[in-house]
Amino acid sequence: MINIIAAIGENNELGYKNNLLCYLPRDLKHFKELTSGHTVIMGSKTWESLPKKPLPNRKNIVLTRKNIQIDGAEVVNTKDEIFEIIKKEEKDVFIIGGASIYELFLPYADKLYLTKIVSNFFADVWFPTIDYEKWEVSDIEFVSKDEKNEYDIYFKTLTKKR
Ligand SMILES: NC(=O)c1ccc[n+]([C@@H]2O[C@H](COP(=O)([O-])OP(=O)(O)OC[C@H]3O[C@@H](n4cnc5c(N)ncnc54)[C@H](OP(=O)(O)O)[C@@H]3O)[C@@H](O)[C@H]2O)c1
Repeated sequence: MINIIAAIGENNELGYKNNLLCYLPRDLKHFKELTSGHTVIMGSKTWESLPKKPLPNRKNIVLTRKNIQIDGAEVVNTKDEIFEIIKKEEKDVFIIGGASIYELFLPYADKLYLTKIVSNFFADVWFPTIDYEKWEVSDIEFVSKDEKNEYDIYFKTLTKKR
């Protein structure tokens, strides 16, 4: 199963200057809980943006067109190579961004784990448009802002309609 996980603003904002929109420890905890023990797949810019690499307790896969090796990650050069990896996986994989990788895999995803941040942000990358005819909301949880988390958020799970 292919899962996509992302935290987005009210207008699908994803990031700015190769960084996340904001620091939300509650969402990072959610991300860690869902992805730990799984394979995570990301674009090279998202890899570069990680403050701590590789993401621990996860197999890190990085998509790039460059012929490079990366310490702590498996490098792949094409979408097809990723599909080969996914086929061999016994567990779910998580597509963790950024914008160009979400765009590539949204048509093939089975589940979307979206953290909807209740705010607008200045952004230079956006999550691709979701065709809600194809998806149903299977779970939704509201988490109120607090002293450590500046914004209200919704954890939304969308499942592809069969
Ligand atoms: N809000 C969230 O949940 C979230 C999650 C993740 C990332 N982000 C944000 O998203 C932004 C990064 O997104 P982005 O779209 O700029 O970059 P990205 O998707 O992380 O990485 C783009 C790179 O991936 C490689 N790539 C893309 N398509 C490819 C293909 N078909 N074949 C081979 N390689 C391919 C290329 O690497 P090379 O240039 O090395 O060839 C390309 O430059 C940052 O602001 C980050 O903070 C947000």
